[in-house]
Amino acid sequence: MIPSQLVKEIKGVVGAENVLEDEVDLLGFSYDASENMKMPDLVVRPGSTQEVVEIVKLAVKNKIPLIPRGSGTNLCGGTIPVLGGIIVDMQRMRNIVELDEENLCVTVEAGIKLLDLNKYLQRKGFFFPVDPGSSNSATIGGMISNNSSGMHSLKYGSTKDNLLELEVVLPNGEIISVGSKAPKQVSGYDLKSLFVGAEGTLGIITKATLKIKPFKETFYLVVTAAFKSLEDAGRAISRIIKEDIPVSALEFMDKYTVRSVKEFTGLDLPLDAEAVVLVECSGHEASVKYYIDEAEKILREEKAYIVEKAKNIVEAEDLWKGRQSSFGAIARVKPFLIQGDPSVPVSKLPEFVRGIEEIAKKNNVIVVTYGHAGEGNLHPTVVTDERDKDELERGFKAMGEIYRLAISLGGTSSGEHGVGLSKAKYMSYEHGEKVLNVMRQIKKVFDPFNIMNPGKMSL
Ligand code: LAC
Ligand code: ZN
Repeated sequence: MIPSQLVKEIKGVVGAENVLEDEVDLLGFSYDASENMKMPDLVVRPGSTQEVVEIVKLAVKNKIPLIPRGSGTNLCGGTIPVLGGIIVDMQRMRNIVELDEENLCVTVEAGIKLLDLNKYLQRKGFFFPVDPGSSNSATIGGMISNNSSGMHSLKYGSTKDNLLELEVVLPNGEIISVGSKAPKQVSGYDLKSLFVGAEGTLGIITKATLKIKPFKETFYLVVTAAFKSLEDAGRAISRIIKEDIPVSALEFMDKYTVRSVKEFTGLDLPLDAEAVVLVECSGHEASVKYYIDEAEKILREEKAYIVEKAKNIVEAEDLWKGRQSSFGAIARVKPFLIQGDPSVPVSKLPEFVRGIEEIAKKNNVIVVTYGHAGEGNLHPTVVTDERDKDELERGFKAMGEIYRLAISLGGTSSGEHGVGLSKAKYMSYEHGEKVLNVMRQIKKVFDPFNIMNPGKMSL
């Protein structure tokens, strides 16, 4: 419960219209795109950095948790107020502060949606290249806090790689600016990167300067390949990476994904394939054509038994349809999805996919696997029904075993979606207590009273 005097003071900072206290309003902030849920005590919507500072000072004084939140599209429970407290909804802070065309960067407030930023940038002839699955609603602050990536991070990198400067309000109420507009900076600790993927546990990001690219009508082509053996598919993927073919996406669907997608879309997909691989190259037309042929050669050499190559963008779009409808197709199988995002070294993919199959069998659950194979980053997804408590429990157990397998293969429990609540219990297994304690000490330096998104990441 938030003391009524504090609610009054917060209303004094942001205006009563920007404070939500009714149960119906709070309900909309009690969940994100993960399986977690918990009601906040209050939602506050600051309109400026200065208002954020005032809110932080009041929260510290009263030792009330603050949970910064963008659109709540994260898949790990990062914005669930597990210990109660105040959700800081950043979406009113959505101004574009400066477009610096000369230096190819843009400074924005953290609550701006990626979609709105890109609409603005396109009118000016630019774009921001990071495109997570949630690109229609994700905010820049949320993307930074989770180091979002997506299908094209193979070419453009993740959010971290496209970030120059950050303005952050620290839990002591100070505003700091970290990073630089200079393309290279090595003076001192890389504090900017510390806030990337910190999931709001160290402070509230209020502004960011992002690298942008000139927008050109990009030419791209796609080749898809079906394999009878996972090992062959894995070798093809590894070779494309090892031979440094400049692909812009390299995606994977296992046989269960293929089946679900075929049933959902009616697309002509091979039901006898163990794996379907999709390769995209984008950029200059002549080079795209050259490299897509190189990729095709490798896929055939590694025994792909069906290969389809787009001759133009329209055909390329068609080939993408299967992969793009994976999530929707899987969601039709059963109503509740436990989706993971482990990542392994690319050479370990076949062993990992086999291991996932064994774990599914052992726990008697359905696990469907697809993802960003070029980065070793898969989305094994347990499809289940939350009304079947026994199956649900087996599903979570299976997902835990999948994370442990990824880690034991030299990988990570999260290559893309973050830790939040969903992966907190694997932090110690992945990093060890010594490393986790360093993280805890860092949190204490920034946030001695543990008011910033407490209860997350096993911190
Ligand atoms: C995707 C999201 C789930 O790759 O990360 O579709
Ligand atoms: Zn993904």
